[in-house]
Amino acid sequence: MNKFYQYFYQDIAIDLGTANSLVYVRGKGIVINEPSVVALNEKTGQILTIGQEAKKMVGRTPSYIVASRPLIKGVVSDFEITEQMLRYFIQKARGKDWFPHFWPRVIIGIPSGITEVEEKAVRDAARSAGAYQVFLVDEPVASAIGAKMPIQEATGNLIVDIGGGTAEVAVISLGGIVSKISLKTAGDRLNQDIIDYVLEEYKLIIGEQTAERAKIRIGSAMLPSQNEEMPIRGRNIVNGLPEEVIITSKDVHQAIKKSVTEIINAVKDTIEATPPELLADIMTDGICLSGGGAFLKGLDQLIMQEVKMPAKVIEDPLTAMVRGAGAILEALDDLKGVLIEERDIEPPK
Ligand SMILES: Nc1ncnc2c1ncn2[C@@H]1O[C@H](COP(=O)(O)OP(=O)(O)OP(=O)(O)O)[C@@H](O)[C@H]1O
Ligand SMILES: [Mg+2]
Repeated sequence: MNKFYQYFYQDIAIDLGTANSLVYVRGKGIVINEPSVVALNEKTGQILTIGQEAKKMVGRTPSYIVASRPLIKGVVSDFEITEQMLRYFIQKARGKDWFPHFWPRVIIGIPSGITEVEEKAVRDAARSAGAYQVFLVDEPVASAIGAKMPIQEATGNLIVDIGGGTAEVAVISLGGIVSKISLKTAGDRLNQDIIDYVLEEYKLIIGEQTAERAKIRIGSAMLPSQNEEMPIRGRNIVNGLPEEVIITSKDVHQAIKKSVTEIINAVKDTIEATPPELLADIMTDGICLSGGGAFLKGLDQLIMQEVKMPAKVIEDPLTAMVRGAGAILEALDDLKGVLIEERDIEPPK
């Protein structure tokens, strides 16, 4: 693209994740990396703060201030809050040194299993948040670019991106998805599994953050050889009183086993639907794991054991998606082909 025009565009890549949102500005890199939590004043509908600050406010504010997650299972659950969150990101990314007439072009990663209506909701939210042009890219494609996989070549690339809301398994070749499965079983589901298990086994009601801490500290995809312990606090369902119990890594493994198996089965099914030529490439290069869920202890080993192919967690799996979307911005002319659809809005006169 003409260098002159490039100067007038403020290009921004956004990973609008269920758990974490990241923003990349062309030429600058990642400028925002925050939990996808919005603190909202319910009386006025105004956003008070977003991200880490909002997360801290949960349960410590007057009742009319609520913390909400605008995305659930990878899709927009609250359109207005999503729009406000995007507006906040776009404004923050543009900074004060930009003239207001500069046009932000925004690229957003979306789960590959999203419906057309959900896709439109993301585009509309970004437009009303001030984006002049909106590009969408499939999350696994962006993550694969972020992982520096050679997806533009005629070779098979298998990526498994496990986020908070969705797990995406995709085989990519020549810049396009050849076979894919998108599951709503991901990090949030594992947290809920732990909540359900602790309620069942220990008659204890625990919060989501407690469950997540247990998953991160002592959770594992394989049956743990050492049984680590961790104290957790909650409310006893029988007498309603606070209580502390010790849970073990075997407990957590047991709790999340079914969901982990679902993810493994999705990898198997995707492999089954992949042409044999591409499979040969994947056997050589290995399966890449991205997203926060890739950190789950032993997941790479379990995949290797179950599908008989090498698997590895990519470098910096939490930022891969936005780095990949950012790389598309940096080389838009070369990488345009990977975008889902390009729609132009008339430039402001
Ligand atoms: N060490 C860890 N072990 C297991 N899970 C982890 C670990 N660290 C982070 N996670 C999980 O990763 C998830 C967040 O990952 P990520 O930021 O990639 O999701 P997201 O992109 O916001 O979600 P999505 O792509 O589904 O919209 C959370 O569910 C979190 O609990
Ligand atoms: Mg994600």
